[in-house]
Amino acid sequence: MSYFITHGQGLEPFVRRELSGQYHRSFDDLDIHVEEVKFPGKIVFSAKPQLLVTPTKKDGQNDPTQATNVLIQHLKTVERLFGLLFFESDISGFLEPGRNALSGVYDYVAGKVSTFSIILDNWAEYLVSAESDKRNLRKEVLGEEVEGADLRPKRRKESHSFRVNVRISGKFRALNHRAVTKCIGSALVKNLPKSANWVINLKRPTVEISFYLTDEGVICGIPLCKLPLSERSYLNKIPLRSTIAYCMASLAVEGEDSDEGTLIALDPMCGSSTILVELVKHFPQVLFAAGIDISTAQAEEAFLNAGKAEELSKIVVLVSDSSLTLPFKSEMSFDCILCDLPFGIQHLTRDEVTALLPKVFKNFNLIIKTGGNIVLLLSSEMSELCENILHELKVTWEIVEKYPVKLGELPAIIYHYKKVITAEPNKVSVVSVSE
Ligand SMILES: C[S@@+](CC[C@H](N)C(=O)[O-])C[C@H]1O[C@@H](n2cnc3c(N)ncnc32)[C@H](O)[C@@H]1O
Repeated sequence: MSYFITHGQGLEPFVRRELSGQYHRSFDDLDIHVEEVKFPGKIVFSAKPQLLVTPTKKDGQNDPTQATNVLIQHLKTVERLFGLLFFESDISGFLEPGRNALSGVYDYVAGKVSTFSIILDNWAEYLVSAESDKRNLRKEVLGEEVEGADLRPKRRKESHSFRVNVRISGKFRALNHRAVTKCIGSALVKNLPKSANWVINLKRPTVEISFYLTDEGVICGIPLCKLPLSERSYLNKIPLRSTIAYCMASLAVEGEDSDEGTLIALDPMCGSSTILVELVKHFPQVLFAAGIDISTAQAEEAFLNAGKAEELSKIVVLVSDSSLTLPFKSEMSFDCILCDLPFGIQHLTRDEVTALLPKVFKNFNLIIKTGGNIVLLLSSEMSELCENILHELKVTWEIVEKYPVKLGELPAIIYHYKKVITAEPNKVSVVSVSE
């Protein structure tokens, strides 16, 4: 089966690692093959279908609502997952000068329909049978009648319904979005094989068909889940995009493959601890994670978030100031540090951040073990300042990689450093905890 995913700007290297099975052993069985197509923000791949997995145990009970496509359950670096209908990089002819652009779009989609109608039927069957299997499972295990009409056609000739969802960018922005959506909808209705009985249903369709029209090409598919995969049910509040937090966590554990839980991690400015929750929830390499924040209100948010993760007991949050000597016993040191530093916008002013960075980096350098990973998220604007400060402090951190990303519209960089040597024994002095 072929799929495509959408991802946040700059996260492509992480998505490729994830699809290669680097983060999930269960992906070895899926035989994932990534297509070499250049589509900004999207990756096309094929994988063996794995419809439903065995329901997970929750409070000693089977929870059938957890039964779902393996990819949906595991993918953590992506925004959305789609069943692929088609993609095409060459869009010449679409917007030729002198040609009515809408009729170009209509002809294009009408011409494509015969090639994807069988795939569309297959995906629709897949979705309704997965939905119906889940419903039966819930009824069987919980004795629960599930609300909502059964989407499975009762008789062979009964229809499937669809709704079209269109995103346009680049040159296509010159067109009226509503008109394009209507034009694609009617090209589908008129050209899908009559035998399949496809009808438009804007309210409760069997499938949604998403079209992305971009300067780089056209890609079309069926969204396989209602909510973006980046919306984590276990997080109460997500101030930092969960996909970015997950990518940072993956770098922090890099080099440690054992699932035994050996690593000790620190987020010295943890806010609501999004990064730590992603870390302990998905990386069994972590034994214990400490979070620090200067703000009691932020620490309270952290308690709420960590409280929703089953692995709560691995996270401890302290209220303290990371620019003062950190509150750990002398013999303690950390295998990894992850930190989403204040950008001087929402938290602190730019001058305050400038004054803060040398102190906190000095402390990070004291408590990180040799060979440990340091993963920092900084606004692009602050990056030069950060690099200069690290240079002046003469810390022995080797840059492993820099990943430019976007937080909404704000350009930022994930820095991955490794501490390579220490001048002195890697000990932390005993200190007082500041209020
Ligand atoms: C960009 S936010 C981190 C957001 C966090 N990643 C999350 O998921 O909520 C930066 C955090 O640093 C905290 N902070 C600022 N100065 C600090 C200091 N000197 N020591 C510890 N925390 C500090 C702020 O209270 C804020 O929660």
